[in-house]
Amino acid sequence: METQGSLTVVGTGISISGQMTLLTESVIKNADIVLAVVTQSALFNLKKLNANTVCLRQYYDVNTSRLISYQKMQQHIVQEVLSGKRVVAAFYGHPGVFVVPSHEAITELRHLGFKAEMLPGVSAEDCLVADLGLDPSRFGCQSYEATQFVFRRYTIDPHMMQIIWQIGSIAYFNEAKNKTKHPGLIVLRDALLTVYPPEHRVIIYEAATIPIVPPRIDEIILKNLSDVVPSGISTLVVPALGLPEYDIETMAKFGLTPELFKQKLAQNNLITE
Ligand SMILES: C[S@@+](CC[C@H](N)C(=O)[O-])C[C@H]1O[C@@H](n2cnc3c(N)ncnc32)[C@H](O)[C@@H]1O
Repeated sequence: METQGSLTVVGTGISISGQMTLLTESVIKNADIVLAVVTQSALFNLKKLNANTVCLRQYYDVNTSRLISYQKMQQHIVQEVLSGKRVVAAFYGHPGVFVVPSHEAITELRHLGFKAEMLPGVSAEDCLVADLGLDPSRFGCQSYEATQFVFRRYTIDPHMMQIIWQIGSIAYFNEAKNKTKHPGLIVLRDALLTVYPPEHRVIIYEAATIPIVPPRIDEIILKNLSDVVPSGISTLVVPALGLPEYDIETMAKFGLTPELFKQKLAQNNLITE
């Protein structure tokens, strides 16, 4: 009987130590082939779980656009499924956070009538919440890709925490990166200075990727952001200024005032500020 191929997209987590879920480990072990876009150390771990693990990082090339690299990864994944295999595609972190070929391969395969699903993984943002103790629900949170952030007319709400990804490659496209000069950070700093004070404390964050090396948690003031040398795994965290003013009119529709509202929250053991 001919077998029907399938795809499971999984995440290996940010740290190579213990951030893969039990379900992810199990599907990796049972796959016919594992196609991986992960670090060398994570690749080593995957190969221990399934000897038929193939690295797809070969498609990254400084002379090729990211879009082409992603399309080649997608094609590779789809072809293996079409050939009847139970395929696992493994990406570092969460496989659906800032990853193009994972979503695209699932869409294409479902369209062709194949079973294709994604399992959640531990993302850099999950590590950030844990390491920095910043709960995204407390003040609300806005999350963006750095180049889009500087090139689009976003409305930045300083009452929310800002998480800005890929600050190490603002406005870099194919060209080899200059590792010390990051002119994009000046533009990013100036955009943030339109709503945050110059002395506001911000954090350059890098979650630990191996157990013996601690996370990078560099706290600086916003006006010095352009002096920072970010790496390819740096994420910028801008803590919130605090909760915004109450909307008195909306509260009145519920028969509430700020004082009554605070009392109700306290009576229900909910956080007020
Ligand atoms: C292409 S995205 C991949 C995100 C990944 N899929 C995840 O779930 O976190 C790459 C960006 O993720 C963030 N990132 C990746 N690794 C990180 C780490 N160890 N610590 C902090 N941020 C990280 C950085 O902003 C980096 O530029």
